[in-house]
Amino acid sequence: MGHPTLRQVARPLEPRDLASPALQELVADMVDTLHHAGGVGLAAPQVDESIRLAIIEIPGGASRYGEIPPLPLTVFINPEIEVLDEASAAFWEGCLSIPGLRGLVERPQHVKVRAMNIAGLTFEMELNGFLATVFQHEFDHLDGRLYVDHIKDSRNLVFEDMLERHVGVGHGDKTRD
Ligand code: NI
Repeated sequence: MGHPTLRQVARPLEPRDLASPALQELVADMVDTLHHAGGVGLAAPQVDESIRLAIIEIPGGASRYGEIPPLPLTVFINPEIEVLDEASAAFWEGCLSIPGLRGLVERPQHVKVRAMNIAGLTFEMELNGFLATVFQHEFDHLDGRLYVDHIKDSRNLVFEDMLERHVGVGHGDKTRD
């Protein structure tokens, strides 16, 4: 946080960009970074590339938010998000670009995503609950927004270890991307 690239509106990719070895290499590097950091998502501006590309991978399984459906590693290019229902819920979000902090952010819980994959094919997904939150957090990065921008009450921005100690939220209950 503080790096200017994180605050820029990233540029869309053209279908012809997708075949470039540099882009394939960037995606491979982002996957390594995501796995190394143990996050659920990473957007290109987080690695100082101001382009509209993000990767998301969710292991899934049981949590206090219920059973989270797994999502295999997926590349999203030029994603567009449409809110299908304004009903919102709050999750303690974290971000690899804001280490050590968590913030309680309320977001709509039913969205539709339309994006291009690395082969240039368009696909759509509908997300509910926690997954809707993860996708909105991730795609916010492409518009220069961070989760802290959504925190309405600064008392809801805390250190990670304080959250565990005082708010009683375990590791499986948060997002970090
Ligand atoms: Ni993030």
